[in-house]
Amino acid sequence: MTMLALPDALAWSEWHARHPSRLISEKECERFLTYAGPLAGRTAVDLGCGTGQWTRQLVRWGMRATGYDYSSGALEQAHKLVVGHPRLTFARWDITAEEIPTDIQPGQVDLVTCRLSLAYLDWGRLLTDVARWLCPGGRFYALTPVESAGGEAGRDPYRRGLATQQLDHLVHVKGWLHAHEWHASLGLRGVMLHGPRGPVREK
Ligand SMILES: C[S@@+](CC[C@H](N)C(=O)[O-])C[C@H]1O[C@@H](n2cnc3c(N)ncnc32)[C@H](O)[C@@H]1O
Repeated sequence: MTMLALPDALAWSEWHARHPSRLISEKECERFLTYAGPLAGRTAVDLGCGTGQWTRQLVRWGMRATGYDYSSGALEQAHKLVVGHPRLTFARWDITAEEIPTDIQPGQVDLVTCRLSLAYLDWGRLLTDVARWLCPGGRFYALTPVESAGGEAGRDPYRRGLATQQLDHLVHVKGWLHAHEWHASLGLRGVMLHGPRGPVREK
């Protein structure tokens, strides 16, 4: 498989200026809510939030949410769309290259989400961090294109996905209580990991 160069933060800012975010469908919400557990009053961290549409959706469900992204252009748009909401924050962070923000305290987060962003991150290492941030019973949600599903994934650097073997690995990472995986439309796959403090799952 030919490796495509990954867009950097500036390239993402230019992309976000020219492209609308992928709309959140009712079906996506339905599947997410089936596995997400109670949301209202809880705390979420949305990684690679882009212009923040998923972060705002989490807030509409009653959560306190912080969206992180390294694209200043995307965050500018996110800030313009909602001004001064008491439960919504956006912050710039290069999730792969920079220190974890001090706002993310171990054991204090109920939900971490990676909507269409996981394939850009060092997700193996990230999951170890996520497990530390989550409170007992906390959850991790990802929606990602699948490279083997054909279509744009694998050809378009702005629609990078995970290979099926990587997804298999993701849902079998040890230390999570349950893993749910489902096929979403347009070659996307949804994953919800529950835990992380449950019994270690043997492969
Ligand atoms: C396809 S967009 C998804 C945006 C949003 N989650 C959505 O659902 O519309 C992927 C996002 O990941 C962000 N991203 C990629 N690598 C990143 C990194 N190392 N640190 C922070 N954000 C990153 C990009 O800037 C981009 O906004």
